[in-house]
Amino acid sequence: MTHQSMDHTAAALVAPGKGILAADESTPTMAKRLSAIGLESTEPRRREYRELLFTTVGLSEYVSGVILFDETIRQRTTDGRPFADVLSSAGLIPGIKVDAGTKPLAAFPDEVVTDGLDGLRDRFEEYAELGARFAKWRAVLRIGEGRPTPTCIEANAHALARYAALAQEVGLTPVVEPEVLMDGSHTVERCAEVTTEVLRAVYDQLARHRVRLEATLLKPNMVLPGSDCPEQADDERIALMTVEVLRRAVPAAVPGIVFLSGGQSDEQATTRLDAINRHVPQPWELSFSFGRALQAPVLRAWAGEEANRSAAQAALLHRAGLNSAARYGSYRPEMETVRA
Ligand code: 13P
Repeated sequence: MTHQSMDHTAAALVAPGKGILAADESTPTMAKRLSAIGLESTEPRRREYRELLFTTVGLSEYVSGVILFDETIRQRTTDGRPFADVLSSAGLIPGIKVDAGTKPLAAFPDEVVTDGLDGLRDRFEEYAELGARFAKWRAVLRIGEGRPTPTCIEANAHALARYAALAQEVGLTPVVEPEVLMDGSHTVERCAEVTTEVLRAVYDQLARHRVRLEATLLKPNMVLPGSDCPEQADDERIALMTVEVLRRAVPAAVPGIVFLSGGQSDEQATTRLDAINRHVPQPWELSFSFGRALQAPVLRAWAGEEANRSAAQAALLHRAGLNSAARYGSYRPEMETVRA
């Protein structure tokens, strides 16, 4: 696998007006999402829901790639086509979440480290055969009294770099996701400070592990006040602080930054992505890799009923279209009510 193809995948994932659909919820997370709309999570139902997402006609106008979970990349449509093939033929790049979730960091109360490096080289080979062209690994950092500790930051940055190097070894483009959670009562300034420190540690480790930055994407949190912080910040301040942190910590060789939504409402995530994209030019594309902020309206519209399938697909297209507009800084709140 050549450098060019990994670089090309990275660039294609942040093509103008496009972003990533994160549909890689693990089975327990998917159970939570389905139970929120009153449904039991079974393998056929998860398959049916993912088929609905992936067969949305016209999605590739706004979405460049889709991140799948291990179960999903092995599933097929009702008429027997593997999901990865369905996505590729619709012009959507298939990706795969390869981490095994977080585990408590021994000796560091309330801190976690992401698992999944064992056997990862072999798993990568299999995922490449199954059609994946990019990958994702999520590290989780929680802000609290004296946290995250330097040890927790270092352990997570090291794991991200080991993962990214292995992904590139088989020609998959790694999406590097260090998420500083918005849970807590910390200020936006504290989030900026922690996010800067985390990103610097991540890029230090990526360099040490000889990861080719041109063939990576960064998937960070936006710089936000904690969800329980009494002092919330307006979108413009969030955009300014997010851009400032990124400029100070992310090398210009990285082609794109694709934000996670992290528990913001779908409208908040879009509005803030839009505000961020009004601060251009920047060295990198500024795009989205949203899970909840793209899927929440789809799940609501679907509610598990076959009869709601096209309404649910219309909701996905509409939300994706709004985020596409936000890529150009041309989203307007009035667009929320105009159906795609
Ligand atoms: P959210 O946008 O729901 O945060 O999910 C993105 C993601 O893939 C987290 O790993």
